[in-house]
Amino acid sequence: GLKKKEVNLLCLGLDNSGKTTIINQLKPSNAQAQDIVPTIGFSIEKFKTSSLSFTVFDMSGQGRYRNLWEHYYKEGQAIIFVIDSGDKLRMVVAKEELDTLLNHPDIKHRRIPILFFANKMDLRDALSAVKVSQLLCLENIKDKPWHICASDAVKGEGLQEGVDWLQEQIA
Ligand code: GTP
Ligand code: MG
Repeated sequence: GLKKKEVNLLCLGLDNSGKTTIINQLKPSNAQAQDIVPTIGFSIEKFKTSSLSFTVFDMSGQGRYRNLWEHYYKEGQAIIFVIDSGDKLRMVVAKEELDTLLNHPDIKHRRIPILFFANKMDLRDALSAVKVSQLLCLENIKDKPWHICASDAVKGEGLQEGVDWLQEQIA
């Protein structure tokens, strides 16, 4: 068959937001990990969609590792940015990290697609995707295609819609 286009994908967001859980769900079931532990530094993962072959840089969101993110910005061709919709206290920290990302010279002037997951929508006090997008001021992102989906990464809900959008942006 046709060779799938290779895409480098950065998976960013605060620690405990669900990045590794999301990426794990996107892998074929025989490659999925059973137990997910906090990422140390970063981990390189792979998954495929109908037309694309993604190499994912699944970065740790812990404060002490966030300075690693920027080293991969140049090679990143798409971004998944994950937010814990139940973590209202750290929504402002998530916004700070997003703003730092958007203002970075290796990201700032590029039309790189950003997919946001308002993850953990199953939590009883989770904010809606609309509310998360307001708190992060996503409407201010004018020079990049972006999209936000509510997701429950444990059950795998909401992920396919997001990945379909991402594939459309790149294909
Ligand atoms: P770091 O690697 O430390 O940056 O964290 P991470 O963003 O990769 O988070 P990870 O995927 O390790 O998930 C953190 C915790 O949140 C785990 O206990 C997951 O099971 C849980 N979790 C992930 N997604 C969801 C979700 O949608 N709902 C709920 N309730 N829990 C989730
Ligand atoms: Mg992780």
